[in-house]
Amino acid sequence: MVITIDGPAGSGKSTVAKIVAKELGFLYLDTGAIYRALGYLALSKGIDLNDEDKVVKLIDEMELDIKIQEGSQRIYLNKEDISEKIRTEEIGMAASTVSKHPKVRKALLDLQRRFALKNNLVAEGRDTGTVVFPEAKVKIFLTATPEVRAKRRLKELKEKGMHVNYNEILESILKRDRQDSERETAPLKPADDAVIIDTSELTVEEVVEKVLKEVKKYGGRY
Ligand code: DC
Repeated sequence: MVITIDGPAGSGKSTVAKIVAKELGFLYLDTGAIYRALGYLALSKGIDLNDEDKVVKLIDEMELDIKIQEGSQRIYLNKEDISEKIRTEEIGMAASTVSKHPKVRKALLDLQRRFALKNNLVAEGRDTGTVVFPEAKVKIFLTATPEVRAKRRLKELKEKGMHVNYNEILESILKRDRQDSERETAPLKPADDAVIIDTSELTVEEVVEKVLKEVKKYGGRY
């Protein structure tokens, strides 16, 4: 069984997806980390993020290893653990830019789908319900106002010891929303059969409960 959780930056996807995966004993896949790894590699090599052919070529040089350790996902790029490094807003924006290229998205599809071959999976991202796993049994789309999302992101980054400012985060979130929603290939949007949850006024526990309720509709049939 596959459960997809999509939504914009700061909508609570990662937090909720991790808890839901743990509760159900499913594997957790953060697809954004894959685009972040590519954005990170492109930036570190000084490659123009808008140059589709150059970026797609980088994928061949990219040895990605995604492991689950103590319930959280670790991502290794050419043997280096980059899990923490890729969490900045700068890399988030780079990920958003490289991810708009159709050839890049196509090249990364199989890698994501492989995770569902042998496992029950909770996948989170932007297009996991629409493109990567269109047959998923339960599809969730989380939203929240940009202001709430910026506050959450601010808290999260500050907790990691980063120096960030609310207005910059809000601006970055709005820019990323625009770029992710307006691209032609696999734009950020709910699947037709997705359950949309506005998390602005909800606690994490309340969102998790709503997601698990959707899963329970399938009883023990997964
Ligand atoms: O979820 P995130 O913030 O780690 O994602 C970073 C960027 O990667 C996001 O702004 C757009 C891109 N992305 C995507 O295009 N498709 C996905 N399934 C996941 C992320």
